[in-house]
Amino acid sequence: MASYDVIIIGAGPGGYVSAIRCAQLGLKTAIVEGRDTLGGTCLNVGCIPSKALLHATHMLHEAEHNFAAMGLKGKSPSVDWKQMLAYKDDVISQNTGGIEFLMKKNKIDWLKGWASIPEKGKVKVGDDLHEAKNIVIASGSEPSALPGIEIDEKVVVTSTGALELPKVPKKMVVIGAGVIGLELGSAYKRLGAEVTVVEYMDTITPGMDADVQRTFQKILTGQGLEFVLGAAVQKVDATKTKAKVTYKLKKDDSEHTVDADVVLVATGRKPFTDGLGLADLGVKMSERGQIAVGKDYQTNINGIYAIGDVIEGPMLAHKAEDEGTAVAEILAGQHGHVNYGVIPGVVYTTPEVATVGATEAALKSEGRKIKVGKFFFMGNARAKAVHQGEGFVKIITDAQTDRVLGAAIIGPAAGELIHEICVAMEFGAAAEDIARTCHAHPTYSEAVREAALACGDGAIHA
Ligand code: NAI
Repeated sequence: MASYDVIIIGAGPGGYVSAIRCAQLGLKTAIVEGRDTLGGTCLNVGCIPSKALLHATHMLHEAEHNFAAMGLKGKSPSVDWKQMLAYKDDVISQNTGGIEFLMKKNKIDWLKGWASIPEKGKVKVGDDLHEAKNIVIASGSEPSALPGIEIDEKVVVTSTGALELPKVPKKMVVIGAGVIGLELGSAYKRLGAEVTVVEYMDTITPGMDADVQRTFQKILTGQGLEFVLGAAVQKVDATKTKAKVTYKLKKDDSEHTVDADVVLVATGRKPFTDGLGLADLGVKMSERGQIAVGKDYQTNINGIYAIGDVIEGPMLAHKAEDEGTAVAEILAGQHGHVNYGVIPGVVYTTPEVATVGATEAALKSEGRKIKVGKFFFMGNARAKAVHQGEGFVKIITDAQTDRVLGAAIIGPAAGELIHEICVAMEFGAAAEDIARTCHAHPTYSEAVREAALACGDGAIHA
């Protein structure tokens, strides 16, 4: 029986970052992972492989749509789907291999297998029992399918199956216009599939501000995605090669069907805690199946902690990473802390959509006096030079203090640009602080400065 200061269950971004931080702080650490490779959903079947496919299909789109106008003539590339999947798999193994290297470098033991917690202070992996002063559950999440819809990962798929389809479908129906549905839906659209997105709410990306949703939907519609909004999916009838999706429009209760070669179910994810033995241990859960934790990430059982997708909050890799760092610092006697007000969210479509902090709608409904500065990428020379003049930067500030409260960006490199605003928010900056910071020309970042200027006397190029 091996004995550790900390055993972390799950080697996704939350778990492996936590393990490294624990090791850095001098704690004897082990990580349990049942997959053949480290990195969890994110590296194996989520963030990373989807970004490889988004990148490859973006290149294809550029070649098909923008090359000729720039004087790059000739035949557009054709798709070798097997090779594209091999490229994606290579990206996965490079990244998962990198995490394995980091575990060794930090002298963290990888306990291979699926963990259970037979009692406080003990973790069972296969037939082996290990002792741990503290246990951190970082077991992540799994797709939450709709009742009555059977996933076969061939015709009716989750994001996992969508990342390894044997061929590009002619017709794809995506259920759910959230992050997964729009990222993978737009990748398959660029590969030539006809894509229809069926969404229960009346808008795409619920939770974002209405102007962002409208602009985003308009851009995606321009790229050829079809949307059916306000539609409750009733059932999916599938054979081995085809499927029929039945939905009811909420506005008039009328029933419709749409055929597909592949149906992607992207209606959210739920915490994955199967097999851990939490019920027998008496670990308190929320009504939504999340592990309930206190501010220090400790469950109601002393010495058992939980972070990431299994607890409340946005199911994002970087939120899990930050919690992993915080819990490690707490276990080492420090003051680990996560600022939940400054967690960016990014949709990696083209253009990208990035948000941070409060939305305009939420602040208005609280009765807060706010200012909104907006700048369109059409006024940004660099964006126009590369055919990416769609979208805008929007910064929301407190009307009295000018302090930045939130932002949304839809446009080129939005997922990178948002971090300037995150840093500003962490430092409690005002829009004027961003506006008075020199920004290199010509960059997309100038649009952030212009939006900050628009919170004051006005942007320059608008
Ligand atoms: P999501 O919560 O982003 O979107 C689910 C969508 O499905 C919502 O728009 C919802 O209204 C809709 N929906 C739910 N039930 C429905 C029904 N019966 N019929 C039609 N529409 C229905 O969930 P998604 O896209 O599955 O992603 C899961 C999690 O993974 C999210 O927490 C997301 O943040 C995370 N993720 C993050 C990524 C990123 O940061 N770029 C990429 C992929 C996933």
